[in-house]
Amino acid sequence: MQRTPAICYIRRHKGSRMIFRQLFDQVSGTYSYLLASRPGGEALIIDPVLERVDRYLQLVKELDLNLVKAVDTHLHADHITGLGALRDRTHCITVMGEQTKADVVSMRLGDGDRLTIEGLALDVLYTPGHTDDSYSFVMPDRVFTGDTLLIRGTGRTDFQNGDPRAAYESIFGRLLKLPDSTLVYPAHDYKGDTVSTIGEERAFNPRLQVRSAEEYVDLMNNLKLPNPKMMDVAVPANMKVGLAQEEIARRGWAVTAPEARRIVGEPDIALIDLRERRERERHGVIPGSLHVPYPSLQENIRSGGVLYELARSTSKRLLFYCAFGERSAMAVQAAQDAGLTAARHIEGGLDAWKQAGGPLAQG
Ligand SMILES: [Fe+2]
Repeated sequence: MQRTPAICYIRRHKGSRMIFRQLFDQVSGTYSYLLASRPGGEALIIDPVLERVDRYLQLVKELDLNLVKAVDTHLHADHITGLGALRDRTHCITVMGEQTKADVVSMRLGDGDRLTIEGLALDVLYTPGHTDDSYSFVMPDRVFTGDTLLIRGTGRTDFQNGDPRAAYESIFGRLLKLPDSTLVYPAHDYKGDTVSTIGEERAFNPRLQVRSAEEYVDLMNNLKLPNPKMMDVAVPANMKVGLAQEEIARRGWAVTAPEARRIVGEPDIALIDLRERRERERHGVIPGSLHVPYPSLQENIRSGGVLYELARSTSKRLLFYCAFGERSAMAVQAAQDAGLTAARHIEGGLDAWKQAGGPLAQG
């Protein structure tokens, strides 16, 4: 996949006053990270913890930020994710890697994608091994490593499809290839360390002082760690993070994918794609859809906005869709709140459309 040279956003990143907060959950030893390119701008949070959601939202408010994305580096076994609660309270987009076992997230990323908000872009690096859905997010001066690489440690590989050989490849083949000065921000620390660098970890991380993949596999297979205390609660909870789309359907605001196939193309239907440009390019679009990215929805559905006027002046019925039906379910609620009572969404999104054999065009 083609990548824009990192220099473009280094300049933007340096030119702006990036906001960066490392937040800590003492119970699980989890670090969460809040990022924004400027005061008053869009923000994203990485690895939020459910019990700390009030604190995050207070900080978001104090810094005058608009939380637009909540991201998990992987499906956690030691705490319950804050993704669902943050989505319910801010209508932000939930994001995980495409291998995730979570029932529904708004957006799934793959290796080589970019995780973007206004003024910031993080390169998406697939780093399996701790789990098979583990990702790292790279900026020019820092990397968020989840549990793949910890400070003087590495994430265990003995459950959740963990694989010590994959972990070795992710660490030695990918993360340690980053410049030595790259700051390492992990998802956990139990000793009180907050940040490290790639060079420091290569030199001093005891788990990385191995001569071969076999030696690393051997080391990881003999750790004999007890399961995390929260595992039996956290894993099932984190697999059920999706928005209950049933409520939207119960109100009659949902259209199933087979129904959508029948009505798309009718003259009174205005089909609206809420996904980002990269998702459209990567996964295709439903032919004939208008592109209105989810973050710009509010300005479009208020009185005077393009979608508002389209629905009011031409009597077109808005039919929203996105990747899995989360953004579109939130959009249909917002449109109803704005008085656009004929608005509907395609339940299950493009994923359901594909399963129903719906045609696709290039995005
Ligand atoms: Fe983990």
